[in-house]
Amino acid sequence: MSLVPKHIKQLSPYKPGKTIESVKRKYNIKHIVKLASNENPLGPSKKALDAVSDILFNSHRYPDASGLILREKLANSFDVKIDNVILGSGSEGIMSSIMRTFLKEKDELISSENSFIGFRVLANASGKKTNWIPKKSFRYDLKAIAEKINRNTKIIYIANPDNPTGTYITKDEFDSFMSNVPDRVLVVLDEAYFEYANHIEDYPDSMFYRYDNVITLRTFSKVYGLAGFRVGYGFAHQDLIGNLMKVKLPFEPSSSSQVAAIAALDDLNHLDKTIALNKKEMIRVCQFLKDNKFNFIPSVANFVTIVFNSRNDTVNASNFLLKNGVIVRDLIGFGLPCSIRITIGKESENEVFMQKISEYIGNL
Ligand SMILES: Cc1ncc(COP(=O)(O)O)c(C=O)c1O
Repeated sequence: MSLVPKHIKQLSPYKPGKTIESVKRKYNIKHIVKLASNENPLGPSKKALDAVSDILFNSHRYPDASGLILREKLANSFDVKIDNVILGSGSEGIMSSIMRTFLKEKDELISSENSFIGFRVLANASGKKTNWIPKKSFRYDLKAIAEKINRNTKIIYIANPDNPTGTYITKDEFDSFMSNVPDRVLVVLDEAYFEYANHIEDYPDSMFYRYDNVITLRTFSKVYGLAGFRVGYGFAHQDLIGNLMKVKLPFEPSSSSQVAAIAALDDLNHLDKTIALNKKEMIRVCQFLKDNKFNFIPSVANFVTIVFNSRNDTVNASNFLLKNGVIVRDLIGFGLPCSIRITIGKESENEVFMQKISEYIGNL
């Protein structure tokens, strides 16, 4: 249709992980283990749910457009001013606002191949030229990214740790990269898995740097277990935040999402439990993969990517798991056609995964 611009016609829509309901129906299976979307296997914090149930009777009211209480709480927790904090419908909601706020005519973007697909979809939808830089050993090649900066470059996107590879950029790499990025270029540092990686000594927590041209994005979708609520937050210089606030949808996130996130921030016990479970189970799953000679990418997040020898092997393994009630993520959409990504689940869920993939290799 001529109403639709060419770059939109050419877009491939975002393909999320399969839902539990769709797999139940298709394969007529009652019990499904979903290890496909890097969600918190322990679910949401009970405190968050209690807080939400209290405010549902106020659902006829619009949300607080300024997100005051949640922004204040985040500002206090991270020792910044409220004017440095933005909220959105997930961190992807903020990414979308970033595109609409800062990009103009000839602006270009730079990111990496095989990185977070959500950013790729938004970059392609923006209609701007994006330079996708190949990774080196499944890691961002920051040197190559810096070398690609030209006078039209406006946004550089880096996910740290990255999804789907689970690798991270180090403090030294980040320092030397930033010394090559001009102030007129905005660096979007997506730290959706920050809480899983923050204990690593050479992991650069971007909140310590406070560059005026860096936006840090974080989310309640992962470690906080609130993916269904859609709450993301970002930190940046107040000038950037002030302009983003003009462009974002006024009432995102919803009232219940704001309330859930406020309560989740106070539930440190749930946070600690989630991180401890992931740590323990990551070791167990990786040991299993090693013992069974799988080729996988060591990860500092809450998922691990297995690399197969061919597309055929990948499809066969992922279909076998699916038919046996285990949903994993085929990474063809991420540009890794020979890989699947497995979210680290609860002990019992990982057990099912290991048992089923053992059956699969046993049948080969
Ligand atoms: C690197 C990365 N950034 C952002 C997101 C999306 O987060 P949100 O649910 O806050 O939009 C994800 C989700 O998978 C992700 O892996």
